[in-house]
Amino acid sequence: MQDNVTTGHVTVTRQDNGVALVRMNRPDKKNALTGAMYDTMRAVIENAAADGTRAVVFAGSPGVFTSGNDIADFMQRSAGGQSTSPAGDFIKALATVEVPMIAAVDGLAIGIGTTMVLHMDLAYASPNAMFRMPFVDLGLVPEAGSSLTFPRLAGLKKATEYLMLAEAFGAKEAEEIGLVNAVLDPGEIEAKALAAAARLAAKPPIALAHTRRLIRKGAEEIRARMDEEGALFAELLKGDEARAAFMAFMTRK
Ligand code: COA
Repeated sequence: MQDNVTTGHVTVTRQDNGVALVRMNRPDKKNALTGAMYDTMRAVIENAAADGTRAVVFAGSPGVFTSGNDIADFMQRSAGGQSTSPAGDFIKALATVEVPMIAAVDGLAIGIGTTMVLHMDLAYASPNAMFRMPFVDLGLVPEAGSSLTFPRLAGLKKATEYLMLAEAFGAKEAEEIGLVNAVLDPGEIEAKALAAAARLAAKPPIALAHTRRLIRKGAEEIRARMDEEGALFAELLKGDEARAAFMAFMTRK
């Protein structure tokens, strides 16, 4: 049995086996993430322990995982129009919750679309997946702990290409550096992610939770780096470089 709840642009499908599928679904804006979308996604992972959710799969719409934070929303925050940071709260939750998370990345995964995958327990990508972290081009700094975890994953030189040159990379490279587990046909990735989630959901939960905690030792360091990134990010968001970059995107032809 399945239970579907759509809140704004996120649909949460819950299966009887304890698996929740979270679908970012705003295809006309390439699934750019709004505050409300972050809040819905955060609630799923934060409430997992209490409501019996044993594994969460994140997916987008066909051909688009997400184009990252909504730039219009960045502009509002840049102008001081928003004091809260649903993105920041979601990011903190990614590094804090204990529920296993799996990404099914089909197509574009920009900004947080890439950095959230760093927090996933497992990830699968389609051959047309395209990852990019253009923070510096937007006058910002990396977020979600990626300034620490990406160099660790890919090595400093590769991380420099991705985080300073802001180069895009594809599914094959993502698999080579270990960002994703496997590259699969677009029609297969969600089924593969859901099957892996179902397997995790069926494991002895206490042993699984301890194992997850053990293999993720160092989470405190990642959270501390997130705080450091977050303070710089908030400062730069209000700066001239970011404002000019947002304006250039919003007024492009
Ligand atoms: N925030 C707000 N709107 C966005 C968006 C974002 N992050 N990404 C895409 N959109 C919107 C576009 O403004 C456009 O809206 P419109 O039809 O009302 O003009 C629509 O989604 C389609 O995007 P478009 O740029 O026309 O599609 P494309 O295929 O040519 O390019 C992207 C897709 C994702 C490569 C491009 O839109 C892009 O670079 N987006 C910004 C990504 C980004 O910098 N994210 C922040 C990371 S921190």
